[in-house]
Amino acid sequence: MRGRRIVEHTSRTGPAGAGCPASGLFTAAFTADPWPVYARLRRTAPVHRDPATGLWLVSRYHDVRRVLLDPVRFRPDNTLDAVVRLSVPALRELAAAGFDLPPTLANNGSPGHAGLRRLVGRLLSGGRVAAAVPLVTRLAERHLDRVEAELAAHGRCDLVAALTRDLPFAVMLEVLGLRADVEADDGVDLATLARWNDASLELFWGFPERSRQPRLARLAAGFHRWLGTLADRAEQARPGLLGLLAGHRHPDGTPLDRREIVAVCYFMVIAGQATTGQMLATMLLRALHDRVLWPRLGREPGLAALWAEEMLRREPPLTTWRRITAGPAEIGGVQLPPGAPLLLLLAATGSDPVVFDAPEELRPGRPRGREHLSFGIGRHRCPGAALARMEAEVVLRSVSARLPTLRPVRPPGETPLLGLLSFRAPTEVLVERS
Ligand code: HEM
Repeated sequence: MRGRRIVEHTSRTGPAGAGCPASGLFTAAFTADPWPVYARLRRTAPVHRDPATGLWLVSRYHDVRRVLLDPVRFRPDNTLDAVVRLSVPALRELAAAGFDLPPTLANNGSPGHAGLRRLVGRLLSGGRVAAAVPLVTRLAERHLDRVEAELAAHGRCDLVAALTRDLPFAVMLEVLGLRADVEADDGVDLATLARWNDASLELFWGFPERSRQPRLARLAAGFHRWLGTLADRAEQARPGLLGLLAGHRHPDGTPLDRREIVAVCYFMVIAGQATTGQMLATMLLRALHDRVLWPRLGREPGLAALWAEEMLRREPPLTTWRRITAGPAEIGGVQLPPGAPLLLLLAATGSDPVVFDAPEELRPGRPRGREHLSFGIGRHRCPGAALARMEAEVVLRSVSARLPTLRPVRPPGETPLLGLLSFRAPTEVLVERS
């Protein structure tokens, strides 16, 4: 009863009225400028129950850090639950595809987590990331050819469509050893994967209207089905993620089943592409608005990496992450019942003045600048952090070096933004030459 499983998950954390931005907190105004709300929460209600979503918002750096470092008391089981209660037609679409996300990585609090984490760690190791620098540089240059061609033809170009959406996908498929599978499948290309990914993000981390949910569910189900066909081809002899998953054993010696293989692939593709693409879009937009900084990023060694780090601290793509209390617990002096769903405001912690002096100022290389929690911390800390950092540095440096006179078309604050429960980023970065 996979459909039932999804209903149970979503009803545990979903708001009472499904399908709309029920919480007064998650509005367009909040997405546009969340920092005053973060500051107010940290100051006056650092552990605050949001009545519309039922989520407990935790906003202070040290509270969030403590929760992340204690996955026994604060379990990760709810990290992939839909935030709204899904409609029956949407659930039917998912059930028809056998859609299920059993505990594997981010949502796995069981002893089996460590082995799977080691498995993905092998693909994302420091050595492999260093070896991927030439690939990312080549891809950046190839995408910049596209950008230049569009600038020449139309006078302007959207960097999201021409660069930041596809580049992390291409990197991801290469690193996970899935590129040949996409190339061999006539029905699937990067645009299809992007549609599937975007629909999955909105369905599980957004507030889609009920009428929109079946369409999103159909797309997420299509993604899941396609990954199922990959799982069927998973053999130990294969290089990359599928081969490692085929050879993997649970602590009790049993192999992964098909749904677990699909769940790992589903999460890895989303985690690797969406977050990184969004990070690149935010960084490029902010840097382009700074006329002094922009040309320096391509010229001054090390500056792009420091700027990327500062942006990850102040304006991370993954703004929140969830946990659930295993039993009665206390955070910041507030008593919580068992099963309390927590929304850790990662983006608020990066601007906590207790840790970051003058947090609103972007100061590349600031003291403690890498201590932000934007990649989490502890047992579930993001294993893709090194890859994401490398992509950020290479892309910022490459775009600035090749197009030092580029500038944003829209004035600051007028760029359209994606604002989901856990994801925030520009959906378009329109640029022209100055
Ligand atoms: C800017 C880009 C990225 C950001 C901001 C980000 C952020 C995060 C965060 C906050 C977590 C949860 C940590 C926790 O629960 O303590 C996480 C988990 C994870 N991320 Fe990332 N991530 C990014 C890129 C990537 C990439 C490129 C990959 C893979 C290629 C990846 C794979 C994962 C995986 C597999 C997990 C689950 C780890 C576990 O539960 O053990 N991420 N990420």
